[in-house]
Amino acid sequence: MGFFKETIRNVPLSGDTVLVRADYNVPLDNEGNISDDLRIKASLPTLRYLLKRGCKVVIISHLGRPEGHEKKYSLEPIANRLSELLKKEVTFVDDTVGDTVYQAVRRAPKNSVLLLENLRFYEEEEKDSHAFAKAIVRSTRAAYFVQDGFGVVHRAHASTHALTLYLPSVAGLLLEKEYSTITKAMSAPKQPLVAIMGGAKVSDKIGVIERFVAIADKILIGGAMANTFLAYRGLGTGASKVESDQKETLDRLYTAAAAKVGAGNVDDFIILPVDVAVAPRIDPSEKRHIRAVTAIAADDIALDVGDKSIEIIAAHIASAKTVIWNGTLGYAELPEFAHGSARLALALATHPDIKSIIGGGDTADFALKWDGGTGNSFSHVSTGGGASLDLMAGKKLPGVESLLDARN
Ligand code: 3PG
Repeated sequence: MGFFKETIRNVPLSGDTVLVRADYNVPLDNEGNISDDLRIKASLPTLRYLLKRGCKVVIISHLGRPEGHEKKYSLEPIANRLSELLKKEVTFVDDTVGDTVYQAVRRAPKNSVLLLENLRFYEEEEKDSHAFAKAIVRSTRAAYFVQDGFGVVHRAHASTHALTLYLPSVAGLLLEKEYSTITKAMSAPKQPLVAIMGGAKVSDKIGVIERFVAIADKILIGGAMANTFLAYRGLGTGASKVESDQKETLDRLYTAAAAKVGAGNVDDFIILPVDVAVAPRIDPSEKRHIRAVTAIAADDIALDVGDKSIEIIAAHIASAKTVIWNGTLGYAELPEFAHGSARLALALATHPDIKSIIGGGDTADFALKWDGGTGNSFSHVSTGGGASLDLMAGKKLPGVESLLDARN
């Protein structure tokens, strides 16, 4: 299915005041510096499009999960970074609704950018409050609402749902690109499609894994979730993290896999590591020790896929036409246990003919750092974490559903 919502290209914009929902929920380091600006960079095409048409662009976003007005979650540093990237002044407004906002928007000339303070400083945002949405519309006097915060469209909040009831609401270019790229790869991928699933928990990603059982040619499992799979297949996992409550889920998954490929071929379809890199504790000083998955000792913690598994993964990549990767293959914060993820990134980067889609969150952070911050080594690095998972799992996204339908 293609993109089925109206976008900024479908509405007549000329010098209007346009309210843009971005997702500037970016990672900050301990000093409050932005450690990854992918989401800010990804918002630029829509902003430039609107500026070219003389619009007054008023941006709203959340940052983190503040409890009330917590200064450390202010969007002011984002305004500064956005201004550098746009090479244009960005006026930061110290509130989200009310007279301060009204006056700032009124004073701003056409072809200008304002960023309002963190939406989540108001509890009404997460409550999908209509009164709050109306207050934003009244304060900004916007003519259109543009949803471009792909990373947050799986939430039904005031800025993803209620607002759309009070303004003509269309998608921005980032939302359109993310939605189209991911749904196309899931519904009409060039085959073979290899899905690589990692990260901490099976339970977080089961919807997506089930979808891959239906559509992928191979599913490769890594990360801490591989321990849960190995334990389910009767192997000892030592002191590794295992989800002990996933038996029924995995029964269901393996039954579906057996129905698709035949019971005798399941282990060649859902491919688990044959070896793992272990350490007795999670610490930067620990070195990786390789163990066959049949020989994990009681005090071993599996922290990465092992060297043979890495070669198997690379071989599967080499014969793929589409690769969808979600979840790091090991404890990638520690370089010693990032070998699997780094080798996977290299395999994708050296096969530019493969359509490679990297699902957001930690995986996108890792891929971008590996790539020197550009993401150019891959076909698509998603800005969405939960949103890309929900989209891949085939769920409806409230922030997309509520936009004007292009099919009517
Ligand atoms: C994200 O980073 O996944 C989005 O910005 C949503 O943030 P949330 O999980 O705090 O709602």
